[in-house]
Amino acid sequence: MEGYHRSVLLKEVVEALDVEKGKWYLDCTLGDGGHSLGILKLGGNIVGIDIDPEALERVKKRFEEEGISKSKYKLILGNFRDQTETVDQRFAGVIFDLGVSSLQLETPERGFSFGKVGPLDMRMDPKLAVKALDLLRVLTRKELYELFHGLGEEKYSWRLADALVGAREIETTKDLANIVEKVVGYRREKIHPATRIFQALRMAVNDELGALKEGLDRVKNLIERDGRIVVISFHSLEDRIVKNTFKKWQLEGLGETLTKKPVVPEDSEIAQNPRSRSAKMRIFRI
Ligand SMILES: C[S@@+](CC[C@H](N)C(=O)[O-])C[C@H]1O[C@@H](n2cnc3c(N)ncnc32)[C@H](O)[C@@H]1O
Repeated sequence: MEGYHRSVLLKEVVEALDVEKGKWYLDCTLGDGGHSLGILKLGGNIVGIDIDPEALERVKKRFEEEGISKSKYKLILGNFRDQTETVDQRFAGVIFDLGVSSLQLETPERGFSFGKVGPLDMRMDPKLAVKALDLLRVLTRKELYELFHGLGEEKYSWRLADALVGAREIETTKDLANIVEKVVGYRREKIHPATRIFQALRMAVNDELGALKEGLDRVKNLIERDGRIVVISFHSLEDRIVKNTFKKWQLEGLGETLTKKPVVPEDSEIAQNPRSRSAKMRIFRI
């Protein structure tokens, strides 16, 4: 893969965290370390978590290239839903930038992209037992419907469940994309018809909504007074979890939501990075 992941809302994240020299910040979704690097460059220190071992290797290399002192950061391999329980320090802020990185999307062998031929894998954590293809093979028609409808918000979920249940001929990302294209056809919209189905499978394989709920619940105990919790989501169900969690925290007197409406990328950012189109950032102050 060429180049690093283009960080979404980078300027806005750094501003939202109100980075102060010498303070520690938690990056729960390191990816290529773009947001972390923004924080380090302003004098903050980083504890960074990612579930993908390849991400950690790249970040190590990138920070070295940037001449960042090793005393300024610690990198942890693991799921933020578990790792946030074991870290024994407090932070001035935390960032979650959910979803997948360009590294994951653009590596065909990882199976995240319908645009490239690869195995139907989609695991962010290579140690997980169940891949996307396993789900397609074992789920019943009704379970497939529920997955596509619930996580993909796909209008043609029944038709797709009918076409895909027990479909032994599917092996690769392209096989799946071709069937979806045949069933759904091209509609007049900006995204490829297989986008929602790939997204639903990916979210299920990695239990992304479950991890988000637990991760948010744990980080609230790790943040110092006046510290910020910043979350960028790319899916309406994720955004709903963030919004409702912040609302609940505010009612419990934990702090206040600083974003009545989510912060979204400017048109110029979307033009440069179309993936940022669906990004929504919410900020909570403890
Ligand atoms: C959108 S990328 C982050 C990009 C990063 N902010 C940057 O600027 O380079 C999301 C990253 O979070 C990781 N990730 C997603 N869910 C995770 C989880 N539950 N625990 C740990 N890492 C996770 C993915 O492996 C991926 O590398």
